[in-house]
Amino acid sequence: MLLRVYTLAILLLFALPSGGWTEEIVLRFSHVVAEGTPKGQGALMLKRLVEARLAGRVRVEIYPNSELFGDDNEIKALLAGEVQIIAPSLSKFSAYTRKFQVFDLPFLFDSLPALDRFQAGPEGRRLLRILETHNILGLAYWHNGLKQLSATRPLRRPEDVKGLKVRIQSSDVLHEIFLTLGAEPHKMAFADVFSALRSGRVDGAENPWSNFYTQRFYEVQRYITETNHGVLDYMIVVNANFWNGLPKDIRAELERIIAIVTTEVNRKAEFLNQRDRQNILTSGCCEVLPLSHDDLARWRQILAPVWKRFEADIGLDLIRAAQTANQAR
Ligand code: LMR
Repeated sequence: MLLRVYTLAILLLFALPSGGWTEEIVLRFSHVVAEGTPKGQGALMLKRLVEARLAGRVRVEIYPNSELFGDDNEIKALLAGEVQIIAPSLSKFSAYTRKFQVFDLPFLFDSLPALDRFQAGPEGRRLLRILETHNILGLAYWHNGLKQLSATRPLRRPEDVKGLKVRIQSSDVLHEIFLTLGAEPHKMAFADVFSALRSGRVDGAENPWSNFYTQRFYEVQRYITETNHGVLDYMIVVNANFWNGLPKDIRAELERIIAIVTTEVNRKAEFLNQRDRQNILTSGCCEVLPLSHDDLARWRQILAPVWKRFEADIGLDLIRAAQTANQAR
């Protein structure tokens, strides 16, 4: 009896009238990019809003540039409760689902609004929850941008890529793309890319402008070809058990904040990429090569068979929905 009274007293001491707890909740948000990128800016905005609207109840600690966890261990760290929010690129979930491979198919999405349409539709929303069996809950998609291709030599036609060692993320679709081009793809963590490009361990890389600029890849690559051959997009994910165990009012407020930040990140992503494209041009370090209409058609044609190879894994329904979203205006 005495024990029960004592336990109740402790509970009352920490419990708030709203059903929350007096102890401050700390959300560690780990990511691999620089703060000037769409994801880096989104993380900072999230921290500002959370700490203004949930002052004293929730604090956000941001760890950018792989300083806490990198590509190799951030999802495991989320599952182990060592970090509470991460936003890996959709290409990095292949150990958990093959469905996200749809986002890596070459030349599937022509623009970020096309990606928005797909993600806002029933298939895109369903994908947010597809990892729940692994205790991973998707809360939102954040954009970076369309990918460009850099190298130590000018790449105009797909044949020019032949023989190059190219860094890719850990995605089998990306691997297949570069094999199809006759290159040697190397899966590598983002944190290692700059030194691999500088030392010549790889000759080229693909990424949107914001990562080329903020990671200084452009300083160690002579050419960037404006291929726009795919998208780099993220999913904000949390540990489902942790998230569902948060006090209800806090979780609801966090969800409202994430919705606001998501709108802002996705509204600004293209602007930030174009700004960094201009920064690279201004630096004069590296040449930006546009593709002619005919060359672009050739890239599309050479890479078209990649879709077929992943159709069974991804599901034709998903690919069709993405195509429909891409064609809608
Ligand atoms: C990469 O590994 O190239 C990107 O996924 C990094 C990022 O998070 O933008």
